[in-house]
Amino acid sequence: MDGKVSGDHKVVIVGLQWGDEGKGKIIDILAPGFDLVVRYQGGPNAGHTVHRGDRKIIFHQLPSGVLHPEVQNLIASGCVVDPRRLFEELEALKGIGIDTRDRVWVSKFAHVILPHHIAIDGMREDGKAKPLGTTRRGVGMCYEDKFARIGIRIGDLIAEDTDRLRYLISHKNFLLIELYGGEPLDDRRILKEYMEFGRRLRPLAVSDPYFLKGFQNRRILFESAQGTLLDISFGTYPYVTSSHPIVGGIGASIGMIPNRLLKIGIVKAYTTRVGLGPFPTEIEGELGEILRKKGNEYGSTTGRPRRIGWLDIPALRFAAIINGIDAIILTKLDVLSGLKEIKIGTGYQTDSGPTEEFDPTRDDLVPEYRSLPGWEGEIAGVKGFDQLPREAQEYVAMVEDLIGVRIVGISVGPEPDQMIWRERLI
Ligand code: IMP
Repeated sequence: MDGKVSGDHKVVIVGLQWGDEGKGKIIDILAPGFDLVVRYQGGPNAGHTVHRGDRKIIFHQLPSGVLHPEVQNLIASGCVVDPRRLFEELEALKGIGIDTRDRVWVSKFAHVILPHHIAIDGMREDGKAKPLGTTRRGVGMCYEDKFARIGIRIGDLIAEDTDRLRYLISHKNFLLIELYGGEPLDDRRILKEYMEFGRRLRPLAVSDPYFLKGFQNRRILFESAQGTLLDISFGTYPYVTSSHPIVGGIGASIGMIPNRLLKIGIVKAYTTRVGLGPFPTEIEGELGEILRKKGNEYGSTTGRPRRIGWLDIPALRFAAIINGIDAIILTKLDVLSGLKEIKIGTGYQTDSGPTEEFDPTRDDLVPEYRSLPGWEGEIAGVKGFDQLPREAQEYVAMVEDLIGVRIVGISVGPEPDQMIWRERLI
């Protein structure tokens, strides 16, 4: 029993909560079993953390398979790309001896984040009575321009389409001055800099359909960023990200829907949320602080302390249904060690009576809990499910039963080998 996959399978990894479920570690473990890792949405707002001994590597823009020399990596059309950060990450990898030449590809159709998008993201957040708590990386602003049909794609930079870029820059400068009361950004410098990015991006740029045709009978791992409850349609709108971190996001990003796709949901053993918005099972006070410290729950992109809560079963079921989840990997179970009591949110009280349905349009859901005994002692070195304390086994079994999806793997620490596998994935 292990996490290996075989054959020409396609697998997708999605987060079933509000992001930060530990997808980076799982993708890093599974990646060597694949020919290609495809990051299919989001941008440098992500923070996928991978541990290698003393070293902690955080990918914001690059797919998390990039540490494995034999694996190809694609940033697909549904992503937005900040070229400065992309090249910074590639340089940083080179600095630690990881060669990414001929292994990292970027869709020509992916949209480009400009300094204006980043500036406006911050100004909008600062100017709002109720900010969203974005990562201020310009991601939402870039998607806005994509759908307003004034955005700039990687392909436009490569084609040196200066007219469209000039228009976008002047449009954004107008907004910066007139709407946000700020200073315009230096259009000539940005134009020059982005044309230079275009030249550097040329050897990495591909057309997704033709590129993916070459991987038709090979193994592909699809990597999402953020989490289902941050989805622009199904999440806790407006406190969401501007893309589709759900399985369905694959189709919008690469066009086709893979035939045989194993859908794996990642669930942290408790819940976190960074940024604002509804969070029914949030834990206030000292216990939240203890778990935050123990789980190192600080945003890997922004450093912000993450909000902490118990598992919310109706929200997880909702996420499992949207994504058609086949199997779950539970992460950070070790963080719960030492608690006397562990709670699980099983339903809500509302003005109209009790319900077991999660509704992301409501912010008045009051959770009802089931209480379980905790366990003593650390579990970070445990390799087999049977060796976990009985209470930890019962917690996992209860979560599995309540969500109604099998838990095939359990992560008990940040290192790649700190995993308990209960079943082969394929
Ligand atoms: P944006 O994606 O920067 O526009 O931020 C929108 C919301 O998504 C905010 O609540 C962010 O904190 C959240 N968010 C964006 N990326 C991540 C992530 O990778 N993990 C967790 N939350 C995220």
